[in-house]
Amino acid sequence: VDILSQYLSAKRDLINQALDQCLPPATAEPRIIHECMRYSVQDGKRLRPTIVLAVAETLACPVERALPTAVAVELIHTHSLILDDLPGMDNDDCRRGRPATHDRFGEGIALLAADALLNLAIVLLGANHRLIGLPAETALDIIREVGENVGTNGMIGGQVADLTFSPAVDGASMLERIHLRKTANLFRLSARAASLVAGATEHQLAALSSYAENLGLAYQIIDDILDHAKSGNPIKGRPRAGPNFATAYGIPRAHALAEQLTREALRALSGFDATAETLRSLAKANLLRPA
Ligand code: IPE
Ligand code: IPE
Ligand code: MG
Ligand code: MG
Repeated sequence: VDILSQYLSAKRDLINQALDQCLPPATAEPRIIHECMRYSVQDGKRLRPTIVLAVAETLACPVERALPTAVAVELIHTHSLILDDLPGMDNDDCRRGRPATHDRFGEGIALLAADALLNLAIVLLGANHRLIGLPAETALDIIREVGENVGTNGMIGGQVADLTFSPAVDGASMLERIHLRKTANLFRLSARAASLVAGATEHQLAALSSYAENLGLAYQIIDDILDHAKSGNPIKGRPRAGPNFATAYGIPRAHALAEQLTREALRALSGFDATAETLRSLAKANLLRPA
């Protein structure tokens, strides 16, 4: 195994352990919602929380200090996946290689579990002050950024634009705006929250934000290419075909755009020395990922 996969699997173990500790036990009442939250959180690649930990490492911040923030980001991400798969959204019945949350638990419990995961993320970020002694002002800044990131100018806005996208009316710039808000935003938030926890300078904060935003955009474009290639693996129905870079541009152009964004992500790191090597490897690996 290469160094990057070793790094990823070590971080995944750490994140999974922390997730397990912060989620209510599946036996706690009401059981169904806690089972559902745990079911939904299982099996992700943990890319966003890994970015949190890798950014913290780049800034010489101990991993334990960044771990609650990493967990919070993964909870927010999982919340967005539950909603994304609902019948009124992408109508997808497969997620993380298993039946989508609503197929397994019903739509009502799925909605409440998504809500509960976002709620739990806020609890964790609020506890950063007490748990790791983060200045209360910084903890508040992170929580405000989460609200903005998930809000109607962020992920929700991106998902709304995704739902209402019309290829006949909306052009490439709308496609990019959608990807920025629904996906790149959370990558950016992961880097920013980690930077704030680590006490980054304004300069570092801006550079790491730009790195993560470009990587996030490239990540969603590669996801579009992969989705386009396998055109879903539905168990029952067919997921909604939303706006997609591969469909709109063709695979070669979409891939070239992902490569360009990756170069921009790497350029944003030019002020960092070898400490940012993991972040560089993560960006390059995205272009080669199998799924
Ligand atoms: C899926 O994200 C949704 C996108 C924004 C492309 P991931 O590819 O990170 O999914 P998990 O967390 O590993 O399941
Ligand atoms: C998911 O986007 C983005 C969010 C959940 C905010 P997609 O709909 O493109 O991702 P997949 O293909 O379902 O993972
Ligand atoms: Mg979607
Ligand atoms: Mg989807």
